[in-house]
Amino acid sequence: MSFSSGALRGASGDDRHDEADDEAKVSRRRFLQGTGAAGVAAAAPWLWPGAAGAAVASAGPSVLKQVPIAGAPPPEQLHLQFGGDAASQMSASWATPVRVNRPRLRLGKPGHGYGTEIDAIERVYTEALTGQTVYTYHARMDGLEADSDYIYQVYHRGAYPLAGQFRTGPEGRSRKFRFTSFGDQSVPVPIGLRLGPWSPNAGFVVDAVEAANPLFHLLNGDLCYANVSDAPVETWQSFFNNNMRSARNRPWMPCPGNHENEVGNGPQGYLPYQTRFDLPGNGGDPALAGNWYAFTVGAIRIVSINNDDVCLQDGAFSTYRRDRIPGYAAEGLDPYIRGYSGGAQKQWLEQTLHAAREDPGIDWIVVCMHQVAMSSAHFNGADLGIRQEWLPLFDRYGVDLVVAGHEHHFERTFPVKGVVPGSSVLTPDTQGTDAASIDTTAGCCHMIIGGGGHSGFTPPSAFDSPHDGVLIVCVGPGSPHAQHPTIVVTEPAAWSAYRDVTTPYGFATFDVDPAAGNGLTTITVTHYGAQKGSSVYAPVDTCVLRRPSRRLGHGDDRGLAAAATGAR
Ligand SMILES: [Fe+2]
Ligand SMILES: [Fe+2]
Repeated sequence: MSFSSGALRGASGDDRHDEADDEAKVSRRRFLQGTGAAGVAAAAPWLWPGAAGAAVASAGPSVLKQVPIAGAPPPEQLHLQFGGDAASQMSASWATPVRVNRPRLRLGKPGHGYGTEIDAIERVYTEALTGQTVYTYHARMDGLEADSDYIYQVYHRGAYPLAGQFRTGPEGRSRKFRFTSFGDQSVPVPIGLRLGPWSPNAGFVVDAVEAANPLFHLLNGDLCYANVSDAPVETWQSFFNNNMRSARNRPWMPCPGNHENEVGNGPQGYLPYQTRFDLPGNGGDPALAGNWYAFTVGAIRIVSINNDDVCLQDGAFSTYRRDRIPGYAAEGLDPYIRGYSGGAQKQWLEQTLHAAREDPGIDWIVVCMHQVAMSSAHFNGADLGIRQEWLPLFDRYGVDLVVAGHEHHFERTFPVKGVVPGSSVLTPDTQGTDAASIDTTAGCCHMIIGGGGHSGFTPPSAFDSPHDGVLIVCVGPGSPHAQHPTIVVTEPAAWSAYRDVTTPYGFATFDVDPAAGNGLTTITVTHYGAQKGSSVYAPVDTCVLRRPSRRLGHGDDRGLAAAATGAR
């Protein structure tokens, strides 16, 4: 085993275990005395020492301003992320309300105990609205064995460890696996002045995902809606602590949505997102790290992108933040960030998709993004900017599946490719009408899975009749101080294969079979829906995505008929 980050110490460090055990005993006594994290926070006004004003980030182990060991609060908000190679790379991330001493992770295998310590890197930001400083820690594990179970603990001096476990991704097409997905979750309890969304289902869905036992989970943006809260730090804290009972046992891989844009926190408002997650690199400007990235699991290349870069909609505007962030006007803050990457994301996306489609080890290309290219609900609506910038690339490189959110319901499309002839709004052209069996060599299947938990779910009245597509085609005048209004049109929705108008909340499972027979690989999709306030997530809809496996040397454009007959 090798390590790309952090200091590796010997694997047989019984002395270090003793040290940690001693620390654990100290911390356990404190916990049993009723002074856990909440008690420490209540008794220590020196928490949240950050200065108000513009947000800042720092990286690297800290040696200054470390709190006394005896006052150390325990780790919290623990969650995992795959590295670029899910078979060998994992990162564990957590947070503390104060800077801590020697944050680190110890790694082991079930039945064999812990043997390896990895120092964590520290990343910090200061919330522009409240001046609170947030301390996050990230321990990167590399050189892991494929398809293997690991156990781990994160801790620091004076704190009881917080434990988790995980399984690495399979090698190539060696076995079946499952992943899950939803977006637009929010938090399970009200925070602060209750400005942000919350619902019990934002908690129930975590248990449902954990019960499904996926290898990993895709979190399709609009995570906790901190950008509309008066208490954004506590909102993030609630989000991660709520998700921790699953996310510390399997990676929850996100993409940033419009509600991750917290104006004032970094150039695009993504600084809390970038600080709190430790995601695969994209090789570009470090200031844009995490906004887009890709990773490989088995024979799937998963590409996570940030649609605020191309969307027309002004989706991050918050009058609360505008009116209360010190220096909002003087510093020229602006939540409308369309085009912020200057084409860098598009260039990276094209290179990434091209490389994936050329890679004989990759069968499926799955894109995880937030705003949608098609929607038949009068909610936000789809965004023409995505059709203009992304869909030609999806067509050119044969993206099989898109998972998204933003619309707070479930809807999926037939395979789409190209544009309906004569369409001025670039309506995607439907390729096939079988809603149960989707040939992704014919076109890309888009899925909206936006019922993660937001209290404002898409109401039944939003699904009008006739069954039209709803599209944002431009925005009206706006400014950093007044949100741009959207201009919406409707279109025939021949592409709409299924929409769930019966259950407002839900998530989807994706069961990947790399060798389904007849030269095919399949992904069986099941959407599970739940009623408001119910913890019961029941199957509502299912379909199967099919494409040839490239392990037989098949080209991508052979189609299913050729694959099924073994033709070459
Ligand atoms: Fe949302
Ligand atoms: Fe959204």
